[in-house]
Amino acid sequence: MTFNEVNTKRRSIRDFTKQEVSTELINEILKDALEAPSSSNTQPLKVVVATGNTLKEIGKELTFKYNTSAKLAKKNIFAKLYSAYKHKLQPNKVYQTIQGKYFGIYQERRIKTAVGLYKVLGIKREDKKKRHEEMAKNFNFFGAPVAIWIYANPKMKYTALVDTGIFMQNLMLSATNKGLGTCPQGALNLWREPVDKHFSVPKGYELVCGLSLGYPSEAKVNSYRPEKISVEELLVIKK
Ligand SMILES: Cc1cc2nc3c(=O)[nH]c(=O)nc-3n(C[C@H](O)[C@H](O)[C@H](O)COP(=O)(O)O)c2cc1C
Repeated sequence: MTFNEVNTKRRSIRDFTKQEVSTELINEILKDALEAPSSSNTQPLKVVVATGNTLKEIGKELTFKYNTSAKLAKKNIFAKLYSAYKHKLQPNKVYQTIQGKYFGIYQERRIKTAVGLYKVLGIKREDKKKRHEEMAKNFNFFGAPVAIWIYANPKMKYTALVDTGIFMQNLMLSATNKGLGTCPQGALNLWREPVDKHFSVPKGYELVCGLSLGYPSEAKVNSYRPEKISVEELLVIKK
């Protein structure tokens, strides 16, 4: 594929086949990702790759946390506090996503993207149950046989996040070039403890983002191409 083909083919994939991805192929993709630039070539990252039973166990725990958290919304404050403590539901603190609504234009774009996605999935906006089930698929890695978690060292300040982003994009484009699909998932950095239980992540590294990796299925959801803003909207007007 040409760069242009790979670049436009890459889309967030939310349904995978069961076909396994060989360790050799995963390592090739990681090698491509390591070609990414990083601030002063510090490469302040650590990566977890989970497959097989380990991935299943992590998925089970994450799903339990997600479902338990969702049920808490209807409970009183004491039940909330007790359950949050008992099941360790507090989200990670360092690199955290916004909990709940975004703001301004970002919330508008988020809704537009979600509405488009649910339309492709045939889910009505008021169907909270189906929406919850769809969201829960994040924690099952959308059926992917591989999930990857990227940790970065926060002592490297903002460049750690820039480096992570570029690394992830290299990884995703490499995967696309090899016929695989990916979905970067902020949902996978909500709780790191189920992952840390299985892997010796060095002290000082914080979880930034997770992603699912596998072969895209023919499911309609994978045809979704959310609209991107125009170059005009992106560009700042000259004074
Ligand atoms: C940092 C980050 C976090 C994301 N988190 C999620 C997520 O938790 N679940 C999900 O289904 N998609 C997630 N996405 C995918 C975005 O929704 C997707 O990139 C966006 O809608 C644009 O679609 P495209 O990737 O197909 O171009 C995330 C993407 C990024 C970059």
